[in-house]
Amino acid sequence: MENVPALYRPGSTLNIRTSKLYALTVVVEKVFTPFTTSQVLVVRVISPLPSHPFLLDSLAILKIYDTRYLEERGATYSSDDGSLLQAEYPWTLDKEVEAAEHRKVHPDCYNNWFCDDVDSEVKFEVYLCTRASDSWTREVDAYHILANSFLSGSTVPIFYDFGDLILDETRAIIPRVILLEYIPDVTSVSSLGDIGVITPWHVRTLVATAVELNELGVVHRDVNRGNILIGPKRAVIIDFGESISQIQGGIKKFSDDDWWSQVDGSKDPIAVERMVTQPDPTTASRLADADDFQSKGATTCRLSNGYVYQNHSHLST
Ligand SMILES: Nc1ncnc2c1ncn2[C@@H]1O[C@H](COP(=O)(O)OP(=O)(O)OP(=O)(O)O)[C@@H](O)[C@H]1O
Ligand SMILES: [Mg+2]
Repeated sequence: MENVPALYRPGSTLNIRTSKLYALTVVVEKVFTPFTTSQVLVVRVISPLPSHPFLLDSLAILKIYDTRYLEERGATYSSDDGSLLQAEYPWTLDKEVEAAEHRKVHPDCYNNWFCDDVDSEVKFEVYLCTRASDSWTREVDAYHILANSFLSGSTVPIFYDFGDLILDETRAIIPRVILLEYIPDVTSVSSLGDIGVITPWHVRTLVATAVELNELGVVHRDVNRGNILIGPKRAVIIDFGESISQIQGGIKKFSDDDWWSQVDGSKDPIAVERMVTQPDPTTASRLADADDFQSKGATTCRLSNGYVYQNHSHLST
């Protein structure tokens, strides 16, 4: 807990401006660490949210995209000889201001690789800020589609709202947030230890969910064991921070034909099946595994629940 900033420790009060400009107040109850791409907190909602009145005094997940507290800022060292691989990049307001200014003038810097005229610390800030904004936008687009589907509240969390985190301190960026259903009594597959507790029902439900996501217009693209939650009565896919949605910002970005090309390339259902039926491999074999999976191309593949994954849009039994 000593690495967790005071702002996010249990008991801390956070203020949010919601998408409809309501002032929402929440109190932190629990923190999920490490902070890899965002800060995920269990919070108690202590002011009313008119669109979801039942949330008052209940728990929710608050996912905050604040670049200030990410693990990646720490130095990294070689596991072979302990030598420094990457220096630490501590947060400073000055660097954040420089990065924000740079992004205004060069919005494509990072997407089209970096401009030459910025120093490495500012480049790092530009990278983190752009990635945070991109991931948040992808999650919001995906949840807008999923919130209206029967998956919501069952195999994907209910999407309550999105908004901004209101901070007392001076910042050059506004951390974006999303507010989701908190699912108690679940464990990510990466923390399960023993995948023997995953039942055929979990596998079937999760693979069918991946198929349905694609049909609804969402490709997940980041199916890993940390993003699948298992409980006695729930099997849930989370974390749409790398997803692609057919509708983005309310605009249909892919024709139906083009959409199925995205789906074919993703292989979300196969990836889900693997994560819940194969034990977590060692890091080395995991990398080999990933290479192998990427290089296979879209071939026909029978999943353990009977689905046949083919080289086009349909999955059939
Ligand atoms: N709706 C939820 N209900 C219960 N626990 C959740 C929920 N959403 C997230 N968590 C917990 O928080 C962890 C991190 O969530 P998530 O993957 O969305 O964050 P992230 O910052 O994108 O993480 P990473 O970059 O490591 O993928 C999950 O592995 C899970 O343990
Ligand atoms: Mg995740």
